[in-house]
Amino acid sequence: MTPLERANRYQDDHRIGKEEKPVFHVTPPVGWMNDPNGFSIYQGTIHLFYQYHPYSDVWGPMHWGHCISDDFIDWKELPVVLAPDQEYDAAGCFSGSAVETADGHALVYTGVKETEREDGTKEVIQQQCLATGDGFCYKKAKENPVISCGQLPDGFSREDFRDPKIWKEGERYYLVAGSRNEQGNGQVVLFASEDLKEWRYVSVLADNQGRYGTMWECPDFFQLGDKDVLLVSPMNMRADGKEFHNGNQSIAMIGAYDRKKFRLAEEQVVMLDHGTDFYAAQTLRTKEGRRIMIAWMQSWDMIIKPAGQKWNGMMTVPRELELRDGVLYQNPVRELEKYRTAPMFCSNREISGTCAIPGVKGRVLDLTLEILGGDFERFSIQFAKDETHFIRFCYQRASREIEYDRTYSGITRDVVCRRSMVIKKPKKTLKLRLILDVFSAELFINDGAQAFSSTYFTPPSARDIVFTCDGTAIVNIEKYGIALD
Ligand code: FRU
Repeated sequence: MTPLERANRYQDDHRIGKEEKPVFHVTPPVGWMNDPNGFSIYQGTIHLFYQYHPYSDVWGPMHWGHCISDDFIDWKELPVVLAPDQEYDAAGCFSGSAVETADGHALVYTGVKETEREDGTKEVIQQQCLATGDGFCYKKAKENPVISCGQLPDGFSREDFRDPKIWKEGERYYLVAGSRNEQGNGQVVLFASEDLKEWRYVSVLADNQGRYGTMWECPDFFQLGDKDVLLVSPMNMRADGKEFHNGNQSIAMIGAYDRKKFRLAEEQVVMLDHGTDFYAAQTLRTKEGRRIMIAWMQSWDMIIKPAGQKWNGMMTVPRELELRDGVLYQNPVRELEKYRTAPMFCSNREISGTCAIPGVKGRVLDLTLEILGGDFERFSIQFAKDETHFIRFCYQRASREIEYDRTYSGITRDVVCRRSMVIKKPKKTLKLRLILDVFSAELFINDGAQAFSSTYFTPPSARDIVFTCDGTAIVNIEKYGIALD
């Protein structure tokens, strides 16, 4: 049996039942998942691959798992497509991306190999590889690695050179990859090719200059509105005020791409998500021009899965990105609305003290609250609640902060449970859209101007939702269940 056959056999024999999983967030069939990879549309179908280790609930030699969808919400699990089985990727098929070509669906990924130096120490080498397929089976190119680490300028790390994101512009393919320079600073390198097999080094598209963490992982580069946007996920970030508390965090650099110098002139840098769990975001462009982003909804330093659960890791809900007046908006894909059930609306409802609202309950919900006014200081929503559990978002009016607290979510480890964020551009009313899917909460603030993602593993029987207000708040409520079958 080849390593790929073995992984598929294992996946088929150990697949975990739907009843143990979220309803519409992508999770691994069994075992460990991290970064989204190869998020793309091929022959009209949406493909999502991911970093995958089926054999255990922790990170291990990386495979590429695979699923497809017609609408970003209802996903079908497919066989594993890549396993570490060649000399150049024996230590793992790391993150990468995909593009539709005349010859099939092309995947570019990082092949990792480990060798021993003369002094006995281990040397890691990361190089970019190609595999092409029909949307189901993929074959690694015989030319691999198609970008060897020897093609990098002197001084650039051979060990930290990974996560290619590919796109086509005119007749040419481009690819950006995460890299590290001699000073240890993260940067994004740009390569170009006419045929996907021969690549030439072009430039450093953007670099860190000691500001955002160290190594930059998982770049993505695209046009949005009249700007150019580079997403990167820096490692080892230092907290700054209420931002960058996750250590590894994803940022967007927004600016203008200088196509002569092949360099991004950066105008502003924003944090993509304020929550405890969001990393390695990747995007695709739909036929009608929407830019959709998905990310790993977990954090490297805070893996809180309960012992005994045989799957680990999930993706965020795919989000549509828009740039308006310098604000990067992200909102759940509109396709989610197709799956709404049991609508409930109420307007100008007064909330004071602690109350539940009939019809607002459950662990799989699309719930929007608009706080119109009132004379309160603190307003909170508790969910995944029963007698002993709850998770809470609390809005503090004077400081414009939203505080999250999962201390009583059933967690049994001493991990970070509280995180706050400041509402950057407050409006007259505060709009909070909360997407719950059994084990996760994603909060979209003021039509997606800011987002907050977090996971928790509270027993699914904890389904109550309770509002608390220290004065009176006037709110509009719009609530739906989400069901796939
Ligand atoms: C980011 C990352 C990538 C790498 C992959 C390995 O989360 O470290 O840089 O390709 O995970 O699984």
